[in-house]
Amino acid sequence: MLAIVVSATGGPEVLTYTDHPDPELNPGDVLVDIAAAGVNFIDVYQRMGRYPLSLPFVPGNEGAGTVAAVGEDVRDLSVGDTVAWAGVMGSYAERTVVPASRLLSVPDGVTADLAAAVMLQGMTAHYLTHSTYEVKPGDDVLVHAAAGGMGLLLTQIAKLRGARVIGTVSTEEKEKLARQAGADEVLRYAGFSEAVRELTGSGVHVVYDGVGAATFDGSIASLRPRGMMALYGQASGPVAPVDPQTLHQHGSLFLTRPTLAHYVADRDELVWRASDLFNWIASGQLKVHISHRYPLAEAARAHEDLEARRTTGKLLLIP
Ligand SMILES: NC(=O)c1ccc[n+]([C@@H]2O[C@H](COP(=O)([O-])OP(=O)(O)OC[C@H]3O[C@@H](n4cnc5c(N)ncnc54)[C@H](OP(=O)(O)O)[C@@H]3O)[C@@H](O)[C@H]2O)c1
Repeated sequence: MLAIVVSATGGPEVLTYTDHPDPELNPGDVLVDIAAAGVNFIDVYQRMGRYPLSLPFVPGNEGAGTVAAVGEDVRDLSVGDTVAWAGVMGSYAERTVVPASRLLSVPDGVTADLAAAVMLQGMTAHYLTHSTYEVKPGDDVLVHAAAGGMGLLLTQIAKLRGARVIGTVSTEEKEKLARQAGADEVLRYAGFSEAVRELTGSGVHVVYDGVGAATFDGSIASLRPRGMMALYGQASGPVAPVDPQTLHQHGSLFLTRPTLAHYVADRDELVWRASDLFNWIASGQLKVHISHRYPLAEAARAHEDLEARRTTGKLLLIP
């Protein structure tokens, strides 16, 4: 098959489109013909070596497609079913194997493209708003990079839960998208914590910060006493070590650095999050903004665009 292979970590140029052996099907696995692979920031960190993996590897942490074969222990999936997954490597390829325990059946009314676009970021937005900090009606919520893949989903899901959403973005075009997604207030990054204080008085209940180094201090300063700092990513770079006294000084704050794997390890939790997303999409409550579809061969261009902040919403690779 054809796949993107990383043999040495580095810039986007290390994403090599090449022949690669077909994956091996073990008894609990499912072989999938990939319809679309989602591009995520974690793919960039893994490509750079910031999250080390053994080399060579096929990148890609989510996708959707059609079941081509099932291992001998697999009972509840059949050839021809549409399935989706997140958190299993190897989706930048024509085919991949995924353990059946990690697969979701995609219902009618949700296309494979939409499923691929929403698995990783959508389940992340779900756990952040339902489990890391349970957003309640009337809460003030700050979402950084509100027009990004995560940002547009977080904004919509926080609105579904009745919050007032304040977003940050870098451009006017991104501001428009964030507002379309339901953001009540949209700020630029410069002086955002002062602007948040003006809007809220005592600060926000929760900050969803996937930008990291550039926003961390301002995020802490935007929280009300006993607020929750959910640092879920580092698109601008890793955050420097934090003195716990900072949390005391800013009002008995909570700081967490969550990751999807720990919120979908249990099969029931995985199914709960994915089902909510599929239902919201089918009923029109959640709009998935797929801004770019790249041929698989152009994965490097997708990474360049994502890292240069040129993208909004979701990027897909199509084998
Ligand atoms: N912990 C988890 O479970 C989990 C799961 C999924 C994603 N994430 C994290 O969520 C974050 C967003 O991921 P995504 O895939 O949805 O990407 P994205 O938000 O679509 O793209 C990143 C955005 O971050 C903003 N940004 C600010 N400073 C930046 C910089 N120096 N370089 C690049 N971007 C910068 C940009 O928006 P503006 O131009 O508007 O600033 C950019 O568009 C990432 O940190 C990712 O690791 C975490």
